[in-house]
Amino acid sequence: MTNREAIGTGIGKIILLGEHSVVYGKPAIAIPFSNTKVEAIIKKTNGDVTLDCVFFRGLLSNAPERILGTKTVIEKVVEDLDKELRDFHIEINSTIPYESGMGSSAAVAVATIRGLYRFFGESITNDRLIDLTNISEKIVHGNPSGIDTSVIVMETNLYYVKGKQLDPFHFKLDAYLIVAHTGSQSQTKDAVRDVRLLIEKNPKKYRPIIDELGNIAYRGKMAMEGNNPIELGNLMTRAHFLLDKLSVSNEKLNKLVDISLDNGALGAKLTGGGRGGSMIALCSTKDEAKYISNKLLDKGAKKVWVSNMGVDI
Ligand code: MEV
Repeated sequence: MTNREAIGTGIGKIILLGEHSVVYGKPAIAIPFSNTKVEAIIKKTNGDVTLDCVFFRGLLSNAPERILGTKTVIEKVVEDLDKELRDFHIEINSTIPYESGMGSSAAVAVATIRGLYRFFGESITNDRLIDLTNISEKIVHGNPSGIDTSVIVMETNLYYVKGKQLDPFHFKLDAYLIVAHTGSQSQTKDAVRDVRLLIEKNPKKYRPIIDELGNIAYRGKMAMEGNNPIELGNLMTRAHFLLDKLSVSNEKLNKLVDISLDNGALGAKLTGGGRGGSMIALCSTKDEAKYISNKLLDKGAKKVWVSNMGVDI
């Protein structure tokens, strides 16, 4: 039975280690980031489907290319559930900065799909939710590894290897994580494509970088499980250096990483697609994290979150 109104949500994500190399079958570590989230509100109306989100307001049929991923999943859900594409309005509100490396596109898809299933009075399995979200992610990102979708659907820490069974893991790390948004958007699709071109052009130089990033993620998991923030910090900083070599960092990210390290962070790196978006820094105490956060804001970070490794403080 169709409801008058339904809400679906999706949270953000942070990749601690392994972005880009995860596309090549190497492991990566991602954690859910509940400090930010998307809410999709579906309301019963009469007539054509309408949409209200940050990029567009109007008839779904007139939606621009930029939100083709969202439009496609809306149509797919309606088709799958054998419903009619009419008589509802979708409003999407988000606190995840878009194109920021924090999983905004996957979270929008997850929230929208969950909301639509609830609206139509149906339940959905996580496997189906992952499949549907990946339809949108393929449109948005071209060749995604699937890590964003998996961590946002499962809402658990993941040691992720493309195509392998999901591996949730637990850790207790005496450390605090800063997430800082540079304020500039970036297209993961372009960064992923450019890394591929680099590897194709000079595999001898770039393949070992991918291998080392994978190895760092493997060692990072052990550091997290063994409560070794110093080791994790060192691995993060090394990963940033390698990601910079892969051409996915930029001046702004490097500056925020340097400020974090100069002010005592255990480690710092870009997170997600890079070329803008966001960076993360690991700190041993909450006070240190707050001190470094203020420095980052002083030096141009647009927004900063401090979390106890993914949990609000
Ligand atoms: C994007 O959050 C992470 C990348 O590794 C791309 C992907 O895994 O699909 C850059």
